[in-house]
Amino acid sequence: MAREWPPVPPDTTAEQMEQARTTFAGAPYLDPAKPVEERVADLVGRMTLDEKIAYMAGTTFKIEPLEVIGETQPIPRLGIPKFKMTDATLGSKMTRDATLFPGFINLAATFDRDLAYRYGKSVGEECRADGYRILLGPGINLYRVPNCGRNFEYLGEDPCLTAQLVVPYIKAVQAAGVIATVKHFAINNSEYFRKSSNSVVDERTMRELYLEPFRAAVQEAGCAAAMTSYNLINGEWAAENRWLVTDVLRNEWGFNGLVMTDWFSVYHTRKLLASGTDLEMPFAEVFAPAKIRAELEQGTIDEAYLDERVACILRPCIGFGLLDGPQADPALRATWSEHAEIGRRIGRESLVLLKNQDRLLPLKRDAVGHIALFGKNAVQTIASGGGAAGFDPGKGFVTYEQSIRQAAGEGIEVTYHPQLHAAAIRKADVAIVFLTMVEHEQMDRNFAFDEDSLYTLHRVAQNNPHTIAVVSLGGGAEMASWIDEVEALVYAWYPGTHGAEALGQMLFGDISPSGKLPISIEKRPEDAHYWGHYLPEGTILPRTFQGWDSAHDRFDVHYREGLLTGYRWYDAREIEPLFPFGFGLSYTTFDYSGLEISTDGLDGAAARVSFTLENSGPVAGTEIVQLYVHDTECSIPRPPKELKGFGRVSLAPGEKRTVEFFLSNRDLSFWNPATRAWTAEQGGFEVLVGASSRDIRLRDRFGF
Ligand code: BGC
Repeated sequence: MAREWPPVPPDTTAEQMEQARTTFAGAPYLDPAKPVEERVADLVGRMTLDEKIAYMAGTTFKIEPLEVIGETQPIPRLGIPKFKMTDATLGSKMTRDATLFPGFINLAATFDRDLAYRYGKSVGEECRADGYRILLGPGINLYRVPNCGRNFEYLGEDPCLTAQLVVPYIKAVQAAGVIATVKHFAINNSEYFRKSSNSVVDERTMRELYLEPFRAAVQEAGCAAAMTSYNLINGEWAAENRWLVTDVLRNEWGFNGLVMTDWFSVYHTRKLLASGTDLEMPFAEVFAPAKIRAELEQGTIDEAYLDERVACILRPCIGFGLLDGPQADPALRATWSEHAEIGRRIGRESLVLLKNQDRLLPLKRDAVGHIALFGKNAVQTIASGGGAAGFDPGKGFVTYEQSIRQAAGEGIEVTYHPQLHAAAIRKADVAIVFLTMVEHEQMDRNFAFDEDSLYTLHRVAQNNPHTIAVVSLGGGAEMASWIDEVEALVYAWYPGTHGAEALGQMLFGDISPSGKLPISIEKRPEDAHYWGHYLPEGTILPRTFQGWDSAHDRFDVHYREGLLTGYRWYDAREIEPLFPFGFGLSYTTFDYSGLEISTDGLDGAAARVSFTLENSGPVAGTEIVQLYVHDTECSIPRPPKELKGFGRVSLAPGEKRTVEFFLSNRDLSFWNPATRAWTAEQGGFEVLVGASSRDIRLRDRFGF
């Protein structure tokens, strides 16, 4: 049956707000000086049962033209305006002339917590400028398969990296007065028929990997809202899963904010009520008033339970001051130029140089006369993946071609070739081939590039010995079959409005590449942890976005690899990936020395780890140092090593610095299925410090 979308209701007017202020003069809910809990309780106490029931769903959805992604109900009688929502992680889609930031996967490749904060601050300011005080992001589902159409919106394969970057991002969004909504909760790691996809996964794997970044978002960043996901988890749809929403999120992690559903993702009124989810989005279907009333009448819930749900919606809204003044702050539009600079910085820090044979890069301006570009993405650069997260990059958008032209300067000819004439390819001193695939929410893409792209690559590489490949994707791709044909390979992810500028600067050595892979890239899917338990057999993945909301029979995705995803898998199985997690080249070199571990006299920490990093090469550069821990004596199997610390260290040539990490008890812990709790077992641990998960430079042991 076709769904009817309700019309957009009018917002509470200024007069109605004034009227409520008079009628309810002195009421705690209107008084910013009163504690949030008192205000919430007072407001809920004044709402009628009908108002409460209505409050448990959004108003509508109107996206063509884009008018409403989501909003809470207005209550004119009480002077309560709508609280408006906007997608998402990469920028405030609903804000006029919003900046589109480089992908979240770019941020992951920077390993930069400070930049994560600035990214969040910028997005938060753009939301607030136009009155969107609920951001429908960030997305933090872990990278499990390269095919997932939303990998670009997420932070890669590792829970520690994801958690440590999303915490500052959320803090910054919320410091800007905007409620962050961590999503998609949970175990939503592929998009292929996501509404029919049942993630079958054991609790330890969930706790140690997939849930861990959400826990950090809630407990360490104080994230005020969460959005459930489309998929089922062990047979139960995420939003209807009481274990997930109430037992874990609320009771265990102490979350008392808003839990909303993803758009059109729920089915059963009784289960949805029982799960502890507060708000159906984008409008009432499962939480249709008649259905909620029926549950009240049958006594499966009582009004006090609805009060709790409504309080969870209002708590962040009142806590963030949304009742205490205009929701928009147009003066913040003055911050856009700073945001452009943040976009550029993410662009600079996120480029990952994966291959640089014979030191082709950096290109020397006086030795290169002509650069030829191939592949449509050079000129029609895709700014981000598609779906809820993507939007028009707007004014000031820089393409890769423009970036290279700008960095090349006057004396160097830069040409783009839609045709593949051998003579033109040969004539150039350097050829650059741009490769991408369609990545979009609600689709998973192929692992291999399409035939046209590969034909371009082969033809160019056959005719020009100095060929560079530039890949724009949110995840890994098949490159093993052609990597030997190119001299250099750059992973560029997605540039957003301003990020592409960095590519030219990096190719010419104005900056040294410093990004590292937040994912492992396999040679072949057969080598990877998900092989044989990702898609139903015989599935053919599309190359273009097929449209929304198609139906499929329910199918299981068995997370049989358990904890052994990504580098954990390659370590345990002793398989060589094409490029390991944490890998990326620089124009300089770094020496690691002097590892010291101490366990005494530490205020609460389990160990202090320090070492010396030296820039031993010819130019300034930034190294992403990584610290992994291996539990050498454990009563149950653990992955061979796990990332527990990382940092970016910028050094001038010859400069040295002491780098220090502290490991907490939690860093040494595992989720013990026997006790259903985190356990740090006494025994031996090995510390591994290195430049990637496969390039360990220093190691030593300590007892705990
Ligand atoms: C996406 C969410 C998004 C929502 C609203 C859904 O399709 O999964 O991430 O926030 O739409 O646009």
